[in-house]
Amino acid sequence: MADTSLVNLAIEASKNAYVPYSHFPIGAALKTKDGHIFLGCNIENASFGLTNCGERTAIFKAVSEGYREFSELAIYGKTEKPVSPCGACRQVMSEFFESSVEVTLISKNGETVVMTVEELLPYSFTDLK
Ligand code: THU
Repeated sequence: MADTSLVNLAIEASKNAYVPYSHFPIGAALKTKDGHIFLGCNIENASFGLTNCGERTAIFKAVSEGYREFSELAIYGKTEKPVSPCGACRQVMSEFFESSVEVTLISKNGETVVMTVEELLPYSFTDLK
């Protein structure tokens, strides 16, 4: 289970979401193995396909700053049940996350579920062999 502060940070991060089209804010908080935290939110575009999801924003921020070793990711959405990450985000998680990474999904009421990347994306595409 992710620590409560990471859950709260994901909720806070959703407040920066740029969602004029869906009105569906997502927040993410990603912790590196050495304790750094990167936040992310979804950023939409009038050309809808250019939208970047909240969890991918957090992962790309971390990787672009030189961090590739992660321990936890928390994702918050205003959903009835803990938010379900999209397929593209699951694929990006599978690129960078070991099985030890705890992915905590959070609902609008604070209900959480913790999953691994293998549970989220079984038999994933991981290399070109
Ligand atoms: N969204 C995310 O940020 N993460 C997901 O895993 C699911 C979808 C965003 C994209 C878009 O801004 C809005 O939610 C509605 O699809």
